Amino acid sequence: KDQVIILGIETSCDETSAAILVDGTDLRSHVISSQIATHQKYGGVVPEIASREHSLHLQPVVQQALDEAKVGFSNLSAIAVTHGPGLVGSLLVGVSGAKAMAYAAGIPLLGINHLEGHIYANFLHHQDIEFPFLSLLVSGGHTHLILFEAHGQYQVLGQTRDDAAGEALDKVARTLGLGYPGGPQIQKVAQEGDAQAFKFPRAMLEPTSLDFSFSGMKSAVLNTLNSAHMRGETLRVPDLAASFQQAIVDVLVRKALMAIDQTGVKTLLLAGGVAANRLLRETLAQTLAERSVRLVSPPPLFCTDNGAMIAVAGYYHYLAGDYAPWTLNAVPGLGL
Ligand code: KG4
Ligand code: ZN
Repeated sequence: KDQVIILGIETSCDETSAAILVDGTDLRSHVISSQIATHQKYGGVVPEIASREHSLHLQPVVQQALDEAKVGFSNLSAIAVTHGPGLVGSLLVGVSGAKAMAYAAGIPLLGINHLEGHIYANFLHHQDIEFPFLSLLVSGGHTHLILFEAHGQYQVLGQTRDDAAGEALDKVARTLGLGYPGGPQIQKVAQEGDAQAFKFPRAMLEPTSLDFSFSGMKSAVLNTLNSAHMRGETLRVPDLAASFQQAIVDVLVRKALMAIDQTGVKTLLLAGGVAANRLLRETLAQTLAERSVRLVSPPPLFCTDNGAMIAVAGYYHYLAGDYAPWTLNAVPGLGL
């Protein structure tokens, strides 16, 4: 076995996904089975339904990934699986499945932190990333600014004190009647709106803090809606969506710039589901170019949850000999 062939498995939330990755960069197959349609009618992910769906889809998704890559279990070097953070029932399906497969195949099991996976999605298309780098990780559950010194060696510089950016987008979208998941819907509707129509607050906290707070910004939208309702006015949803999206992006970009100024680091890796947002990508690209800071971001498909990013992170764990014990457990609140 000269090549390193990793099967990556992701089941932390509402996507069952598997990917086959050769030598860290050659993505031979990538299968994502999304449960969005199932959860849409409830306005969000229903944990118990999510676990049951993973149970139904895990084996077929893995089999399809193997078939498309034309590899069998005997060709694999290791199996990488998300073991946290996420929904406990969903994580357990992936962890138990991966354990069984790795044990039967007689190959190492790699336990991957989902957040690290999001960041490592960047290494799939960019092998020339140099340390140190900063990462702005913005997902449905997390908003972090992290300083990476080396593989597996990092320090959280700031994080949200309440809602994550994606969570705030999802909640506002739900209030606006835009459905789940909210981020893509807000982006879509915002195209028809005026981002200057409403002046929502930009929560920056203490002058040098790299922490975030999105819950007050979310409440500002709800208050605006409620007071208009009391006056018998109807507000334009596209204007609300565009103004809120702009407020979130402004805070994310400003905090990223503060982290760059405070550390002097010249590379920023964007990551997480909200990294798929066009306004965020374009604004960051323009602002960082002005400062000669390199921006790396995954293609949108690799920003939201996927098995490829778990395989990429798994590849680096494999190289480091960082194997998981057979007692690997799901850790819903796993941090960085
Ligand atoms: O990383 P992810 O797929 O799952 C978590 O680990 O949380 O992130 C999902 C989040 C959701 O809040 C979703 O609304 C948001 O990412 N999202 C977006 C976009 N696509 C997904 N937010 C803004 N614009 C998008 N295009
Ligand atoms: Zn995620």
